[in-house]
Amino acid sequence: MGNRTALEALTRRPPGFLRSAWPWRCVAYLLGSVVPGAAVALGVVAVGLAGPPAGLLLVPVLLAAAVPLIARFERVRLRLVDTVPLPPLPPVPDRRRREIGVAVMTVFAMWWIDLVMLGFTVGGPVLLILSPVVQPEAGPVLAAVGSVAGVLLLPVAAYTITAWGGARGAIVRAVLAPAGSELGEVMRSRARLVDAFETERRRIERDLHDGAQQRLVALSMTLGLARLDVPDDSPTARMLDVAHGEARQALAELRELIRGVHSQVLTDRGLGAAIRDVAGRSPVPVDVDADELGRLPAPVEVTAYYVVSEALANVARHSGATRAAVTARTAAGTLAVEVRDDGVGGADPARGTGLTGLADRLAVVAGRLSVSSPPGGPTLVRVEIPCAS
Ligand SMILES: Nc1ncnc2c1ncn2[C@@H]1O[C@H](COP(=O)(O)OP(=O)(O)OP(=O)(O)O)[C@@H](O)[C@H]1O
Ligand SMILES: [Mg+2]
Repeated sequence: MGNRTALEALTRRPPGFLRSAWPWRCVAYLLGSVVPGAAVALGVVAVGLAGPPAGLLLVPVLLAAAVPLIARFERVRLRLVDTVPLPPLPPVPDRRRREIGVAVMTVFAMWWIDLVMLGFTVGGPVLLILSPVVQPEAGPVLAAVGSVAGVLLLPVAAYTITAWGGARGAIVRAVLAPAGSELGEVMRSRARLVDAFETERRRIERDLHDGAQQRLVALSMTLGLARLDVPDDSPTARMLDVAHGEARQALAELRELIRGVHSQVLTDRGLGAAIRDVAGRSPVPVDVDADELGRLPAPVEVTAYYVVSEALANVARHSGATRAAVTARTAAGTLAVEVRDDGVGGADPARGTGLTGLADRLAVVAGRLSVSSPPGGPTLVRVEIPCAS
């Protein structure tokens, strides 16, 4: 389909746009207004039947019952005209306000505008096309002219419907999603630099592994052997114990460093295992859902691994969260990884190098990074990487 929203689709060239599913999706979207319309009609009948005093009391009760249902309905049908996922729901007082906003808008204004719009733009041309049937008394020539005019008006109708459907979707998104929480795409660039950086990283990892680490292992063993030759109560023995301990410590730190530069688990056992490995070392408890990933192309695994590492490092350093969750799934040739936390929010790629660095990495594998982090939280970092192998 190419475009992510109906409004984006309008910018395509006419043949592409008219052949796409977007006009039809918008028709389906606007037709959905029959549901709130029917609900309003039922409400009016119920109030009418109840009579003046009781009926007036019934209005707020019906509205209160309808608000969450209508908000949910709007949220679900929004996907027809806007495929960008909505950010997580904000906490309750704000969420309530937003639900009421969208329900009031739908009940009092939008549903009938949608249906009138559909009636004029689609009903008009359809009636014209059917002129020979509905107006046989007009004569064959006039009826034929009417039919041709109707056919010519259909593409115009496609544009009008898509424009209104898209605009309505944008309004609903603006009311439902907290300001600043849009899954804003983080700038991506410097793809070439990242590639060079990746090569350099591999070299450093190999150098550390084959050079410094082997020397430290040898040093540690020599110190251990030397210690065996020295009587337990001599001062040299104490010094050798300390030195041996230091060497072991240095080795452990070096191993940790190498793991940060390059994860052996990732190379050996794949992304799912590597995600569980980083999550297990996070100071904030992390729920992991990354089963059934299988093996993916190496660049995809490495990139996704760095995203999870950086996002979890950020959770530990900045979020103040009590829990975090990582999910990784593949569907339709795309790997989608999400890292969310229940912390304070307010992540801003402009304030550090971590998130923009990830965006650079993603550019190399044609992936996309989105961050949603309104003040007050929650924070959601989402990446999508094409991984058809
Ligand atoms: N999960 C989060 N919760 C709250 N704030 C966050 C979160 N992640 C990032 N931030 C905020 O966004 C800023 C940018 O994050 P980024 O990872 O780009 O940089 P950093 O972590 O500060 O530094 P580094 O370059 O070492 O990664 C952080 O300084 C922090 O204020
Ligand atoms: Mg960071």
